[in-house]
Amino acid sequence: MFCDTPFGVSADRGGVVISRLFRTKAIDQILKDADDPDHRLRKTLTAWDLTALGIGAIIGTGIFVLIGTAIVGDVHRPGAGPGIILSFVLSGLTCALAALCYAELSTMIPVAGSAYTYCYATLGEFLAWIAGWNLILEYGVACVAVAIGWSGYFNNLLRLAGIELPHWATHPPGGPDGGVANFPAAIIVLLVTVILVIGIKESARATGIIVCLKLAVILFFIAVGTPAVNTDNWTPFMPQGFTGVGAAAAIVFFAYIGFDAISTTAEEAKNPQRDLPMAIFASLSICTILYIAVAAVLTGLVPASQIDIHAPVAEALNRVGFKWGAAIVGIGAVAGITSVLVVMMLGQIRVFFAMSRDHLLAPWLSTVHPRYGTPHYATIITGIGVATLAALIPIGDAADMTNIGTLFAFVLVCMGVVILRYTKPNQPRPFRLPLMPVVPILGMLACLGLMSFLPWVTWIRFVVWTIIGIVVYLGYGLKHSKLAGSSPEAIFQNIHAK
Ligand code: ALA
Repeated sequence: MFCDTPFGVSADRGGVVISRLFRTKAIDQILKDADDPDHRLRKTLTAWDLTALGIGAIIGTGIFVLIGTAIVGDVHRPGAGPGIILSFVLSGLTCALAALCYAELSTMIPVAGSAYTYCYATLGEFLAWIAGWNLILEYGVACVAVAIGWSGYFNNLLRLAGIELPHWATHPPGGPDGGVANFPAAIIVLLVTVILVIGIKESARATGIIVCLKLAVILFFIAVGTPAVNTDNWTPFMPQGFTGVGAAAAIVFFAYIGFDAISTTAEEAKNPQRDLPMAIFASLSICTILYIAVAAVLTGLVPASQIDIHAPVAEALNRVGFKWGAAIVGIGAVAGITSVLVVMMLGQIRVFFAMSRDHLLAPWLSTVHPRYGTPHYATIITGIGVATLAALIPIGDAADMTNIGTLFAFVLVCMGVVILRYTKPNQPRPFRLPLMPVVPILGMLACLGLMSFLPWVTWIRFVVWTIIGIVVYLGYGLKHSKLAGSSPEAIFQNIHAK
């Protein structure tokens, strides 16, 4: 099969390679592939399931753990102090702009794969691969950070119950307080992997229950904490100026990641056109309001410089004398972070599934289990990879890498929505974002702005990651892609025959 490129038909061999890198996949073909009975996912998810999946992915390690580092700062960045409230507003607005783009594309192309699939239809195969490669950071590496955050709160709860796990078994190797491996983080990942192999409906139902618990705990923190707020703690509002607020916005961006995981399950939604935009906006708005409230209460309870960086939310209640409240928040955090892990793992699996279905990754990855109807190979491989990294690396490194990859994927999605409006003006769009092209352009600028506040070491790692991605694409995907369908020579002849 041959396909169009935004560059039209080239007349030489260099042009052939360029054409192959930028070949796009027709939207009708994307929808048809998704309907292939051998690779079809079950359509079981309702609007409530999708919103629960969204909130399940959003509220987790970001608000329960990383908020502490964002307020206080660390070796890589200045802290925001109470200005963290503003940081949440900035990150939330960035996500809202990206969410509008996701809503348009996910209803237009309601199949698994998210940014990867949208880029395939718009920017061409090479950038689609780069988007997919970054989604591994957004989902896979986010799972690593989430699992480590889970392990921290889990250890805290055990400690409250008088059980102390040995240091070597709960810390990654390296650094001043290094251990052998973070075993609880790896074990929770493996347990979630088993649940996901068994089936999405079961995991969505479990997520729904945990989401209610998580919301209840956040509301509990706000209700119990508000009367104890000391407004003096809110001054100075921005102790490190706007740089601190910007740097914090770049970390707490992690707290919003997940709304787009809804679009990765588009193929399993009963009524994607109506339910996807609704679920994306419902989950994002609910979380933004809650985050701003949690940030205000947290910084009002304890002076910014004294906020704990391991379990800041629970510990703040403890400091003002609500020990029982701290325990309740701890239980909620463990349950809540588990649900994030479920949804983010699901997102990663769906992305592998979509890339493998296009033969940019090995085709056996997208085989669906005959009994459970889930992509079991993609699930098991994701589980083993995430568990290994969660055991061995620090949380901050995983969170920064997640953010840079996700923000870059968002930039590509914003670009994709603009391109598709011009290249496919007549394609049905059940949801059209307003103020075209202002919204996607602002979205791109906002994402690039947040990226500029991330530490330089993260940028270096990101460049290395991207180079590895390019090598893998040139070594495998370029040759095996379903869109290639034939040798370079055949494609070359094809072009001349046109
Ligand atoms: N938003 C998710 C979290 O904060 C990834 O854990």
